[in-house]
Amino acid sequence: MSTSGSTSGIVYRPRRLRTTPRMRRLAAETRLHAADLVLPLFVKEGLTEPAPIASMPGQVQHTEASLRDAVADAARAGLGGVMLFGIPAQRDATGSAGDDPDGVLQRGIRIAREAVAQVEADTGRPGPVVMADTCLDEFTDHGHCGVLTAGPSGEQVVDNDATLDRYASMAVAQARAGAEVVAPSGMMDGQVAVIRDALDDAGFDQVSILAYSAKYASAFYGPFRDAVDSALQGDRRTYQMDAANAREGLREADLDLAEGADMVMVKPAGTSLDVLRGVADRSDVPVAAYQVSGEYAMIEAAAAHGWIDRKGAVLESVTAIKRAGADVVLTYWAPEIAEWIK
Ligand code: PBG
Repeated sequence: MSTSGSTSGIVYRPRRLRTTPRMRRLAAETRLHAADLVLPLFVKEGLTEPAPIASMPGQVQHTEASLRDAVADAARAGLGGVMLFGIPAQRDATGSAGDDPDGVLQRGIRIAREAVAQVEADTGRPGPVVMADTCLDEFTDHGHCGVLTAGPSGEQVVDNDATLDRYASMAVAQARAGAEVVAPSGMMDGQVAVIRDALDDAGFDQVSILAYSAKYASAFYGPFRDAVDSALQGDRRTYQMDAANAREGLREADLDLAEGADMVMVKPAGTSLDVLRGVADRSDVPVAAYQVSGEYAMIEAAAAHGWIDRKGAVLESVTAIKRAGADVVLTYWAPEIAEWIK
């Protein structure tokens, strides 16, 4: 027993660091900062009013005008980036609208760059990096992330290498429109290398690639399919990963790093925190994680019922994603979090 006055024999008392708000603040290992947050935004061709997304309360499909305002707000909030998704008026087998210089996503990118430049001029502070989703699923009439071909027994399969040509063309179209980061999310083999080559050949060696490296086939993308009016028949299990596999996620990240990815991403964030930690431990480049539509919808739905403390759950979920190793978090709550942590 101790002779120094304590009768308990307890030497280590971790609770000391939890006694007061000021002590807890000092002791916090993980902090949220607006500049680490990226806001995903949807812009839809031909809309006249922003259209609420039923399964994502608080999120909308933007018109070009409301996109401009949303990006300007993101800039004033100090967010690190915006990630744009386009919803075209016409879809076809090869997703032609995806690399049309005047397609909805390219128009959105130009608008976003203008909005950022405007706020930067007004405030003198850096605005969000403008990023674009480089994938075909929003643009194809079958809803797959690539072009289809007949498989060995006549079934329709996603043709990896034919899809790569489409991604290369999309990435260049996005760069021409002003995208600073292209984000291939289709999980085709070799996509980062092909996009890097195409960007370099077209004179865009300064445009970065944020690779969706470990992207799992996930039920948590459900609300996103509403957000982009997805036409998907079937599922994505021949190209997105099986949630059973962690090693495979690390291998995918290694391959993307070897192909020249400037940043790598893990997705969905909340169900892949182990993979996120593993990728963070081996990556020399920034690591992003995407808190996806279903993660958003779950907390919003529970909070709407009064079953969960909304703000607490949002902050805890994003803090956990950072704690697991994310430098950058894509989250639909980015503007609200930025407001809370100001
Ligand atoms: C593909 C893409 C998807 C998401 C981001 N990029 C959909 C999918 O792979 O099925 C999902 C994002 C979310 O659920 O919030 N373009």
